[in-house]
Amino acid sequence: MANVLDAFKDLKQDNAKVDRSKKFRIGIVGTGWIAAAHIQKYKMMDDVEIVAGCDIIEGKAEKFFKTWEVEGVNCYTSDIEMYKKENLDAVSICTYNATHAECAVNALNAGVNVLLEKPMCVTTEEAVEIMKAEKKSGKILSIGFQPRFDNDMKLVKQVVQSGVLGKIYYIQTGGGRREGIPFPYGTTFIDPKTGVIGAMGDIGCYSLDMVLNAVGYPKPLTVTGYTSAFSGTNPNYSGYVKSGHPEYAKIFGVDDFAAAFVRLEGDIILDFRIAWAEHIDSPCDTIILGSEGGLRIPATECWNGTIGGDMTLYHTVAGQLVETTIPRTQNKPVDCFYEKIRSFLDAIHTNGKAPIPSTEILYNQAIIDHIVKSSKEGRELKVEIPEI
Ligand SMILES: NC(=O)c1ccc[n+]([C@@H]2O[C@H](COP(=O)([O-])OP(=O)(O)OC[C@H]3O[C@@H](n4cnc5c(N)ncnc54)[C@H](O)[C@@H]3O)[C@@H](O)[C@H]2O)c1
Repeated sequence: MANVLDAFKDLKQDNAKVDRSKKFRIGIVGTGWIAAAHIQKYKMMDDVEIVAGCDIIEGKAEKFFKTWEVEGVNCYTSDIEMYKKENLDAVSICTYNATHAECAVNALNAGVNVLLEKPMCVTTEEAVEIMKAEKKSGKILSIGFQPRFDNDMKLVKQVVQSGVLGKIYYIQTGGGRREGIPFPYGTTFIDPKTGVIGAMGDIGCYSLDMVLNAVGYPKPLTVTGYTSAFSGTNPNYSGYVKSGHPEYAKIFGVDDFAAAFVRLEGDIILDFRIAWAEHIDSPCDTIILGSEGGLRIPATECWNGTIGGDMTLYHTVAGQLVETTIPRTQNKPVDCFYEKIRSFLDAIHTNGKAPIPSTEILYNQAIIDHIVKSSKEGRELKVEIPEI
């Protein structure tokens, strides 16, 4: 089997030399939980000066920069005000899902390059508005899917792109946790006013990105979707009981489970499910079936940004049914969060392309949005994406 495995060996690393002599003036919009990951990585970069920050909660940005020991940062409660006063090169948008779209549009309209946290936003229409602003501005917009930089995630794409599976016709992906509704720093993930979408926007978008990126981001054509929230709305949900927060059941207003049957361009069926909490022992593996082979990608603890173990390739050799293990790469682990920011800044330095472009993530968002809408309407929906 050595020759089969050799086909996946050469993981290309992007070693292109980038002139990083220009120092970028950086801002952070939304100074909550994930903003901490952004600031820690920015602080490691010589071509970055963090000069401004903004949070709609009075005093939150000031406290954030003090905690992270970055001095001289001008703080605002309005991003528009910030853009008027500061001459920024780029911003990280780290707000909760509900305000991704307005914040991204404001930044692009102000002529600032944008690294937008995942999910891109909450609806297809919002994604289109963001992309219109991106087009008009000519600025770089990259979406924060850091697992793209993980070596094993790159390997998944390489295996699929090698053609070893033949014509791909079926994908199963998603996953689930037994007890994993997130409320680490409050309720912004579960409150419909801030999170809007739940498990789908938190972890579902990652598993969608893994498979859609691997197969070349085909356009979704139709979606039959289902969403529910049996755990989140139950005050006796074990996670609430353990944390002493049964009152969160009243706040909960997003999906904690979603399932969908999606037709993709190129005659591919995508069978998807995701759960923050479910009464079953194991999340589902990802399976990609093709005319010449099938690939099993073991699930993770949903979602830790990589794959859960060695992959298995199922194929037929000389009439024999063969299972080939495709081991995880032995490459040095990558700091994926650093790389997502580094690649974004390098794209600005080189006037290059967005590392994780909106043109791809638009389809990810459209699937999620159509699952929500299809579930509400109780029928299959054609995926409609307005002109950009
Ligand atoms: N990439 C990852 O690994 C990862 C991990 C966790 C969260 N996230 C994403 O990051 C986003 C934020 O999650 P979080 O846990 O940090 O949320 P959070 O609630 O802790 O922080 C969001 C902050 O944004 C502020 N905010 C909201 N609207 C604003 C606006 N219009 N202008 C300025 N500030 C505004 C809020 O006041 C809050 O302080 C979510 O979309 C989530 O999906 C990504």
